[in-house]
Amino acid sequence: MPAVGIPIGGGNKEYPGNLTPFVTVTCIVAAMGGLIFGYDIGISGGVTSMDPFLKKFFPAVYRKKNDDKTTNQYCQYDSQTLTMFTSSLYLAALLSSLVASTVTRKFGRKLSMLFGGLLFLVGALINGFAQQVWMLIVGRILLGFGIGFANQAVPLYLSEMAPYRYRGALNIGFQLSITIGILVANVLNYFFAKIKGGWGWRLSLGGAMVPALIITIGSLVLPDTPNSMIERGDRDAAKIQLKKIRGVEDVDEEFNDLVAASEASMQVEHPWRNLLQRKYRPQLTMAIMIPFFQQFTGINVIMFYAPVLFNSIGFKDDASLMSAVITGVVNVVATCVSIYGVDKWGRRALFLQGGAQMILCQVVVAAAIGAKFGVDGNPGDLPKWYAVVVVLFICIYVAGFAWSWGPLGWLVPSEIFPLEIRSAAQSINVSVNMLFTFFVAQIFLTMLCHMKFGLFIFFAAFVVVMTIYIYFMLPETKGIPIEEMTRVWKSHPYWSKYVEHGDDYGNGVEMGKGAVKNV
Ligand code: BGC
Repeated sequence: MPAVGIPIGGGNKEYPGNLTPFVTVTCIVAAMGGLIFGYDIGISGGVTSMDPFLKKFFPAVYRKKNDDKTTNQYCQYDSQTLTMFTSSLYLAALLSSLVASTVTRKFGRKLSMLFGGLLFLVGALINGFAQQVWMLIVGRILLGFGIGFANQAVPLYLSEMAPYRYRGALNIGFQLSITIGILVANVLNYFFAKIKGGWGWRLSLGGAMVPALIITIGSLVLPDTPNSMIERGDRDAAKIQLKKIRGVEDVDEEFNDLVAASEASMQVEHPWRNLLQRKYRPQLTMAIMIPFFQQFTGINVIMFYAPVLFNSIGFKDDASLMSAVITGVVNVVATCVSIYGVDKWGRRALFLQGGAQMILCQVVVAAAIGAKFGVDGNPGDLPKWYAVVVVLFICIYVAGFAWSWGPLGWLVPSEIFPLEIRSAAQSINVSVNMLFTFFVAQIFLTMLCHMKFGLFIFFAAFVVVMTIYIYFMLPETKGIPIEEMTRVWKSHPYWSKYVEHGDDYGNGVEMGKGAVKNV
């Protein structure tokens, strides 16, 4: 490919426009897509620790947990069907995110969000009224399809709607809404578990209908993005829309850049094959490694199974759910730290600091559990200070994740892909994330049973590797316009050999900041 299409603007091009109330409201509504995802992450762990739920659907697990007091604590929840309940959703989400990328591109972001909301709604309904395990699984697969659609469309929608200067904050806004969803689910689990008659789990699962309805109705009233309208050939309407969103008349520069970016990306016939070119090796590698590493921090062991885990280490049911609420609050608050600091301190600083914090905590938790439970999983009496120490270090671990790998796992991939491979690379990022979320969810309880407290050492070892990896392999991307990102690879000691000088991205069509928006 000829070395043309060099990004223009020198990084100091500014589009006129404001953060209008209109765009703020649309972004808040759209971000509800993250709420759905988060609600689901938080709810499954809670219901799987509720006895009436286990008794009804997983009686073998229930018996093992309650009747046989001599059973090794590490293994009390080990059941493939129980894990399948949690993890089936992620496999479904993986599949549907691939389909959703086409719907999103051809029919607009709104339609994908609508599909996402509707599928999620039906899934929540089936789960709330479930009578048998198969209904639970079918419901969760539908929830997964919904999440696949929503997660594909919502981040795109937010990036396209957001004024250039606020894109970073809005990007982490999506992660913030994920964490709020997790917290709400944890709080609801705590209260619903107390309902007499033991049907509280139905409210927990059926409660997913509320965020689903919000995103379904929201997607009907939300406007489509100008980028998507241009992509689908409706330039006049797109320009009117852009003026409304930005709150100014003078949108020509941005509009022209959007058109140019759209034309550039249309010239690429085979984005997937394109992605395999040598010059895209750094981006392709990151699109795989970042989501893979994000899941091997072990975060979802806490997010999915915190109550189960706390129960295993001797907490009563109530205290277990309460501890999950505490970690949920820490998750939300620490995400705000990241919103505040990501453009000040940079991505690398957060990755490295957060990584070190997680390693330390995982080692302490492993040591604490190992010391009391040993290898046979029989703790005897557990003093109160012990529980406090374990919860405290788990909270510090969650905070480390919430200002590093949590938001950055989504932000960094989204800002390093040049336009012509952006959509394909983003699909890889989402699919790899879902695949390993599935993987960790599916094997965790078995791993806990077999690796015991060593499980935490296992994840700590991964965090050591990924922290070293970031140190050597990831260049700082703070404050660099996306369309100029090529320079970070060119000046990198390792990646520079893949990206030759003069080997610029782009397809001979001049691309301005509009290119950023056409994710
Ligand atoms: C991850 C999820 C995780 C959540 C926790 C997200 O960035 O993708 O797997 O459960 O953060 O807050």
